[in-house]
Amino acid sequence: MSPRKIIIDTDPGQDDAVAILLALASPQEIDLLGITCVAGNVPLELTSKNARIICELAGKTDVPVYAGCDRPMGRELVTAEHVHGRTGLDGPDLPDPQMPLSDGHAVDFIIDTLRTQPAGSVTLCPIGPLTNIATAFNKAPDIVEKVHEIVLMGGAYFEVGNVTPTAEFNIYVDPQAADIVFTSGVPIVAMPLDVTHQVLVTKPRNKALRALATPVGTAVAQMTDFFERYDREKYGSEGAPLHDPCVIAYLIQPDLFSGRHINVEIETTSELTMGMTVADWWGVTDRKANATFIGGVDSQGFFDLLTERLARL
Ligand code: BDR
Ligand code: CA
Repeated sequence: MSPRKIIIDTDPGQDDAVAILLALASPQEIDLLGITCVAGNVPLELTSKNARIICELAGKTDVPVYAGCDRPMGRELVTAEHVHGRTGLDGPDLPDPQMPLSDGHAVDFIIDTLRTQPAGSVTLCPIGPLTNIATAFNKAPDIVEKVHEIVLMGGAYFEVGNVTPTAEFNIYVDPQAADIVFTSGVPIVAMPLDVTHQVLVTKPRNKALRALATPVGTAVAQMTDFFERYDREKYGSEGAPLHDPCVIAYLIQPDLFSGRHINVEIETTSELTMGMTVADWWGVTDRKANATFIGGVDSQGFFDLLTERLARL
């Protein structure tokens, strides 16, 4: 089978970085057409720099990296330095990138790619706020039906929220954009906190990454060392949750995951529950299913895959 063409839309972020590395390490399954950056964990200037730092770490400087929207569609930007550190990539000491940003806006790259590639051949992989994707859909509605699938990290049902009592960060930052995406009619696979909180870099897993003894293995171990302190303090977790790499692992080995095809609506008006993913997990409404909401993962299988793939870089 030929590799799946994807665009990663991202706000690196240590877990975004691991997602990008996993994709770059898997050319047999994944043809990474480009990386589009958005403001989220840290401002756009840093996310678009961090994405290039990661490409250079992997020695893959031929992947185009675009800067996109620097703020949500209708709200002030909320960032997460308290989780990811001042740079968004705190942990390892990585050099500033030499590779330039690609010319043009990320939204136009998404539009042009969907218009020029065969219809139904491109999968969008958003792992940050959905601003770039929704802006592209608004600007060029003709591309919506050309998207093969959207596999995204966002939302929560059983875990409810991480940035507010009821909302997960990516959806909370730009609920309006999330609403546009979830009502677009494009097939969606969502990786909510319910699953990503099961994918923890425990001490032995961190050790296995470090033991790769490569620049990538060392950097990933250092990133997850830094990133874990937040979840340890907050939830008493056994390590850093690798939210965003779930998206890429799903593309490579979907049988690691299980979920339900259900209706998911986004709260866009109530300040109290803003950005909540109202997921009809139990099928108590007759609202139409619009997303496969993942709930289960073989987390050791995930780490075996991740470690084996990162060893290739
Ligand atoms: C999501 O928010 C960010 O902090 C992470 O990179 C991930 O995409 C988890 O809520
Ligand atoms: Ca992210």
